[in-house]
Amino acid sequence: MKKDRLFLVSAVVILLAFTMILMAQDTPAYVGAEKCKMCHKGEKKGMIFEQWEGEKHAHALQPVLDEGEGENSLCLGCHTTGHGAGGYDPASETKDAFAGVQCEACHGPGSLYKKMSVMKDRDAAIAAGLNMPTEETCLQCHNNSHHEDMTFDYKEAWKQIEHRIPEEASE
Ligand code: HEC
Ligand code: HEC
Ligand code: HEC
Ligand code: HEC
Repeated sequence: MKKDRLFLVSAVVILLAFTMILMAQDTPAYVGAEKCKMCHKGEKKGMIFEQWEGEKHAHALQPVLDEGEGENSLCLGCHTTGHGAGGYDPASETKDAFAGVQCEACHGPGSLYKKMSVMKDRDAAIAAGLNMPTEETCLQCHNNSHHEDMTFDYKEAWKQIEHRIPEEASE
């Protein structure tokens, strides 16, 4: 009788562990822009990483730190990447990897789509969590819910940060 129960409990524990592993594999996680760099840097790839590094998005945490609000979740939600979802966490040692508005703030958490075999296949990448951003994506942050005087013109704003893979580089 006791042995049966022990067996049942172990079986349930093992099943739960497996379910958790499977769920972890199915849920995309934030990896940080450094992980996108190796395939999206350099002239041939359109200098996407280098261009982003020179934009305000890459340094968007700084004005929040300057105002002494580095622990304020409200600010971090718009000025960092993946805050509250496994990305930027002010208490974590790896927080610098998710500072500012990174690739994944717009393109979605990349753990499942960043593999070459997935990235080359747009449908597979989108199924794995890749987001091809639209105006809606920008409006999650470029809205006046906090900064009351904020205005946003999508076309103008996109022109300032537009990035493309050169035609001849696509394989
Ligand atoms: C809803 C999203 C959102 C929230 C919440 C938010 N910000 Fe911002 N913040 C933005 C955006 C978007 C901009 C850029 C506006 C622009 O340039 O049009 C910005 C700009 C700023 C700037 C000006 C930066 C510069 O380069 O001049 C400062 C400073 C700032 N935010 C601080 C904060 C602080 C501090 C908090 C929290 C108390 C906060 N923000 C909360 C989205 C947000
Ligand atoms: C502020 C939001 C935002 C950020 C940050 C951002 N992107 Fe994008 N990205 C976009 C939008 C919008 C498009 C165009 C989508 C479309 O054409 O449908 C795009 C398109 C792309 C494309 C496709 C280009 C093409 O030729 O079709 C690649 C590759 C890309 N981004 C990579 C990156 C990488 C790598 C980073 C980080 C270094 C990054 N993006 C950061 C918004 C962003
Ligand atoms: C996760 C929140 C977030 C998203 C999503 C977002 N932005 Fe931003 N954006 C910001 C913040 C915060 C700043 C201000 C950074 C600063 O001034 O330090 C900013 C600044 C900018 C700037 C000023 C850049 C510069 O270098 O002067 C432009 C242009 C811009 N965003 C365009 C866009 C566009 C276009 C999209 C959608 C494709 C977008 N943003 C999506 C948060 C966001
Ligand atoms: C192992 C290399 C590799 C890594 C790492 C990688 N990418 Fe890509 N990515 C590619 C390739 C290859 C393509 C297809 C480019 C082409 O069509 O020329 C691509 C395409 C894209 C596109 C355009 C998709 C489309 O269909 O238009 C976006 C957006 C993108 N990557 C974002 C990212 C982001 C964000 C990261 C980091 C989380 C990342 N990539 C990491 C290799 C990579």
